[in-house]
Amino acid sequence: MSKSPIDRDAILNMSRSLAKNAPAKAAPKRASRPKVDPGKTDFSTLELYQQIKVQRDMAELLQTRDPYFILHEKRAGATTVVDGKELINFASYDYLGLNGLDEVHEAAKEAIDAFGTSVSGSRPTSGERPFHRKLEQQLCELYESEASLVFVSGHATNVSTIGELLGSQDLVLFDAYSHNSVTTGCKLSGATRRSFKHNNFDDLERIIAETRDKHDRVMIVVEGLYSMDGDTPDLARLVDIKERYGAWLMVDEAHSLGILGATGRGLFEQQGVDPKKVDIWMGTMSKTMSGCGGYICGVQPLIEVLKFFASGFMYSVGLSAPLCVAGSKSLEIMKREPWRVEKLQSNGQYFLKNAQAVGLNTGLSEGFCVVPVIVGDSLRAVKLSNNLLDRGIYAFPITYPAVPMNEARLRFFITSEHSEEQLQTAIDVTAEELRKLEEANFSLAGSISSLHESK
Ligand SMILES: Cc1ncc(COP(=O)(O)O)c(C=O)c1O
Repeated sequence: MSKSPIDRDAILNMSRSLAKNAPAKAAPKRASRPKVDPGKTDFSTLELYQQIKVQRDMAELLQTRDPYFILHEKRAGATTVVDGKELINFASYDYLGLNGLDEVHEAAKEAIDAFGTSVSGSRPTSGERPFHRKLEQQLCELYESEASLVFVSGHATNVSTIGELLGSQDLVLFDAYSHNSVTTGCKLSGATRRSFKHNNFDDLERIIAETRDKHDRVMIVVEGLYSMDGDTPDLARLVDIKERYGAWLMVDEAHSLGILGATGRGLFEQQGVDPKKVDIWMGTMSKTMSGCGGYICGVQPLIEVLKFFASGFMYSVGLSAPLCVAGSKSLEIMKREPWRVEKLQSNGQYFLKNAQAVGLNTGLSEGFCVVPVIVGDSLRAVKLSNNLLDRGIYAFPITYPAVPMNEARLRFFITSEHSEEQLQTAIDVTAEELRKLEEANFSLAGSISSLHESK
């Protein structure tokens, strides 16, 4: 690595500004005691709590079961066990089935024997371990990047990276369907926020052309594969826009690592784009990498800045041995066994084509690891999910406001472990149960009006 020359003026300027900003001593103040309503310390008076209660009461009244926090009694992969009953499972992100492999488990156990279950402190202060450096080296090879950094949470990776890199003089442009971790990071940054229509780069270009000269730095954030809709962005077009307007491009690969491209390296491999053209590659370790955590890959100065300023890294514990080693092992197996990626892709195509053949609305899905079945209003989606559960299939409903009002859906997450028979069963049962609900005109509006009639 070549060293950059020392900039003496920059050092002098920095020391002047440090001296100027030194805190002045303040005189101690005595606080007077304000009068506070005693109810203000009762959590059950929170409006958010009332919202949860209303939703639960409404579900009970409309005879649907709460779909949240279902208890799985074994490792949830292509199948799972709930209430002692085996189900075909479509709510696992273990896309390549690596979370179930002895080889991954053995490596994680050996790492625990050598290093324990926690590294107990942040890496800058408590130090690094060889497994941190090994994983970061593997990620650099994957994205052909100069440097990389792993965080303990995928969500915190986005929040800290976007939140810390941008400031009030900057602009962040994000896809309207972005994950909560992206939009939270954008809010935290204090930058001007503009969302563009989903996967619509004419809209992106219109906004950036109008606003670029009003801002210092500009960042564009997209996902490699969208987790609600299962579609991908045009990476070459994004690179062209970001180069012409002098912006950074960040791609979140949570649902595309292990899924896209012949060997699972993600969006750039699928679309034949040089990975170095993307400024910030981000990904999570909770999906293909069968662990927990997140990563950023890019040039050395970017990673240096994050190492010292990204609060979710600097002030949070380092990744633990079993999680880090499970991630390393998963990348190793993904590279060694491309048949897993091929199987996942053929399963995705199978599900998409056969679901469409029986008339299910799969929206924008391109048939990789995410295929939504759009059913209309939120109550119908919850009821359909309940009915599928009774028939041995687990698919989670996504309701308003996570998706537009009339686009509530069940999301089917496809893995390399599913058999075609399991996929076909799910398609047939979903089509049959949805038909029954449609014939009964089952919807939120219909159920509420029949409640009024029965009063
Ligand atoms: C696109 C995207 N980014 C980030 C995250 C956060 O990752 P994690 O759940 O590993 O914290 C998720 C979670 O599903 C996601 O879908």
